[in-house]
Amino acid sequence: MKDKVVLVTGSSRGVGARVATLLAGLGARLVIHCRQRAPLAGKVAEGITRLGAQALVVRADLTVPQDTHRLFGDVARRFGKLDVLVLNASGGLEIDKPADYAMRLNVDAQLRAVDAALPMMPQGGRIVFVTSHHAHFHGQRRTVGEYEAVAATKRAGETALRERMPELAARGIRLVVVSGDVIERTVTAVLLERARPELFARRRARLGSLLSVEEFARAVARASHDPDAVSGDTVYVGSTEPDGDGPTGHSGFIHTS
Ligand SMILES: NC(=O)c1ccc[n+]([C@@H]2O[C@H](COP(=O)([O-])OP(=O)(O)OC[C@H]3O[C@@H](n4cnc5c(N)ncnc54)[C@H](OP(=O)(O)O)[C@@H]3O)[C@@H](O)[C@H]2O)c1
Repeated sequence: MKDKVVLVTGSSRGVGARVATLLAGLGARLVIHCRQRAPLAGKVAEGITRLGAQALVVRADLTVPQDTHRLFGDVARRFGKLDVLVLNASGGLEIDKPADYAMRLNVDAQLRAVDAALPMMPQGGRIVFVTSHHAHFHGQRRTVGEYEAVAATKRAGETALRERMPELAARGIRLVVVSGDVIERTVTAVLLERARPELFARRRARLGSLLSVEEFARAVARASHDPDAVSGDTVYVGSTEPDGDGPTGHSGFIHTS
């Protein structure tokens, strides 16, 4: 990743923060992005600087078009290009947002970010879309009721990105999707466990433990630079069994095209 420029959206905390730090450790120059937690984003950037890598912090609400354009303008001015765009920022469980917020963030904002990124992405660039099994398998499996809007819109976002693959291929840019099981101690997991404790108890009893931020972030980081990744691949991380069904562990990855 030496001299590659990587933007990880939503890298102030959770999975995004760890992915950014892992990629900086491989020599990449990082854009740390947040919506509002600038002090947290600053701490992530400080950690990256201590690794000897460069980091730019940009605050932007991706549901606001002007913010998105400012974000990519800042990236262009500082680095002049973008090699890898990790679409990690996500939301929709917030209680203070309008009904269409999940759609605006998980679909519209993702496509807008891609549109803003493409002009500065060289051939060989990569877009990584981060999602959850609940979202990726939406429509094929039941999801937790409280997560329905997030799952449906993230699935719609993934589908919309996949529809852009011919255009991406023409530009020499790969799209890789990384889908994960529920991750222990994340804000989403805490909210869902509060709503559905029995589901989590069952899943822990079956799997021993849930997926960790570290395990998932390592898979996302690998998908961001793995030379063997094929455009359109989905990397599955953690148990892919639906809630309540047979036993699985959460080691390794299954790649499918
Ligand atoms: N949590 C899980 O159990 C789980 C499981 C599988 C997959 N995933 C996927 O992993 C990814 C990261 O999840 P996470 O749990 O680490 O997320 P998280 O802790 O909720 O962090 C979300 C990040 O997105 C940013 N963000 C939120 N709304 C935004 C907006 N409107 N504009 C710009 N940035 C915004 C936040 O910025 P601020 O900090 O400034 O608010 C934060 O950096 C998501 O794509 C999720 O679907 C999560």
